[in-house]
Order: sequence, then C-alpha cells, then structure tokens
Amino acid sequence: MKKKILVSRQYPKAGIRLLEKENFHLTMWEKQRPMTPVELIEQAKTHHALLCTLTDRIDKDFFNQCAHLEIISQFAVGYDNIDIIQATHLGIPVGFTPDAMSEATADIAFGLMIAVARKMFFLHKTIINGQWGYFNPTGNLGVEIKNKTLGIFGLGRIGVKMAQRCKNAYDMDIIYHNQTRNKAAEKLLDATYVEFDDLLAQSDVLSVHCALTPKTKEIFNGPGFIKMKPSAIFINTARGPIHQEKDLTQAILSGDIWGAGLDVTNPEPMQPDNPLLSMENVCILPHVGSGTMEARNQMSVLAAMNIIEFYKNGKVPHIVNPKVLGS
Ligand code: DGY
Repeated sequence: MKKKILVSRQYPKAGIRLLEKENFHLTMWEKQRPMTPVELIEQAKTHHALLCTLTDRIDKDFFNQCAHLEIISQFAVGYDNIDIIQATHLGIPVGFTPDAMSEATADIAFGLMIAVARKMFFLHKTIINGQWGYFNPTGNLGVEIKNKTLGIFGLGRIGVKMAQRCKNAYDMDIIYHNQTRNKAAEKLLDATYVEFDDLLAQSDVLSVHCALTPKTKEIFNGPGFIKMKPSAIFINTARGPIHQEKDLTQAILSGDIWGAGLDVTNPEPMQPDNPLLSMENVCILPHVGSGTMEARNQMSVLAAMNIIEFYKNGKVPHIVNPKVLGS
C-alpha cells in the first residue's frame, strides 16, 4: 500500500520531488494560510506521515487523535511546536533539519547587529516620511562594533557561524554561555565560557541562538536586562518566547540597553502597532532567518530524506528522539 503523507504547507520543490519519486501519496495543503489546529488533526487522521513546520501545533490534543502516525518530519531546526515527550511515548520518530539554515540565520543575526548599531530601519523610515532634512554632524549617530565583545547565548551550529562573522569582520572578543561547554568552538573562536550573569554584564552585543525550552523561556527578562550595559545591543534570531517582550520594550525605553534586533517576536506575528516598531534603535524582521533559496531548498531535502530513509531502511538521518528507533 502506498504510504499517505500529509504535507502541511507549500514547501520548496526540491524535497517534494524526492517524495514524489518514491511514489508516496502526497496530500498538499494548497491554501495560502497555515492549517488551523482542527484542520491539521482532521487531515492527519487519514495519513501515515506528516511533513510539518514550526507553526503547526503538534501537541497533546493532536496526539490524542493522531497517535497512529508513523513519522513526523519537521521542516525546521527548532521543534518547540511539537510535544516531543508525547511523540516519544507513542514511539513516533520526529525528524528535523539541522544546519541547513545555519549560514542564512547567522547572516540575519549579523545584519541585525549592524542595522541596530546604525539605526538603519528607523532612518529608512525617515526618508519615506519626507524627513531626510539635511546633513547633521551631530544627528542620527550610531555606534561602532569593532573590537567590542560579542556574547553568544547558545554556542551551537548557528551561534558559531555568528561568532565567526563577528570575529572576522570586527575582531570581536567572544564570550558565551551554554548548558554544556563547547570546547571545540572555544578553540576555533578563542571563545571564553562565562556564567549567565557575566554574559549579561560583559556583552556589548548579546546574540541568542539557543532552543526554546522550559529553561530558556523568557530567560531574558527585566531583571536580566538591568544587568546589561546601557550601550548593549540584544539580538534574538532563535525563538521569540526566549525574551520577555514587554520587559525588553521597557529596558530600551528606560535606557537599560541600547537597542534590539529581532527576527523572532513574542507572539508572532507581531502587531503593527507594537511600540518596538517605532523605536530608533530597534530593527525587526518577520522570522526570515532561514529565508534563502539555498537554505529552504536544503531544508526541504533533509525533511524529505527523513521520511524516505525511514520507510526504506527504518532510519531517520536527522532525528530528535533517536530512542524510539532503538538508537
Ligand atoms: C527553524 O528552522 O527553526 C527556523 O526558525 C525556521 O526556519
């Protein structure tokens, strides 16, 4: 019998073609919006496998009705939308797509850092609003990044790429905080491991690259921002709920930190009247870290291969919960 795969979005063709070649029966969600949780459950009920992404809610409700799924393949490196404990309990392997977007996401973090330091998004808006004015020797001043200290929270695949960019371009000193030390990266980047409070206190630019977990949820909050330098730039390209957005807004307003660059917000999408959007030292993007053709194509290939290899050889090349396959 042909395996039926529910494809929750219009993913890049590179991966879809691989699935088609293997003769799976694909049900593609063609609408220009994500499925609602109810639609997702209704559709998934009649399929063997699910190809999904970060906005699909794969929670207890979902598993209550879709415990029959044979594999879930997530088109993303983050998988905080999936109840992994429940998937593992049910013996459902969950695939993901690590590293495919590391370069692309590090580019966005690096770009946001410079954009915030030079108030780029705000200044762009002044032109649109007819406020270019005249050359002002003391107006619109930003700050320079060279030789400053970069603090990385979560020195993994993407964090390392961000640190490399900052070291090569601006000879920045690298400090980091992780759950476990990354000795290889310390050597590669001459990076120093510091305690969380020291990361807050010493970073000129603090860039977040960790996963969203109960431990990291809102770990960047009011009491933390107060410990940072008033000149510090906060960058988050990981997940919005890692920072407390009201506290971040307040921290910038009261000058506890200089500004922020966000590719992720809490919640998403951000509402157009959010006060952060009109601040001079804030640059915000709509969660596009992995948004290059190269990264998205590669993500679709990895997500497809996780399904193909599972049905061919019983292996999932990039798996979140290897325990379910006995490895
Ligand atoms: C991911 O992969 O987790 C990104 O947030 C979206 O590509």
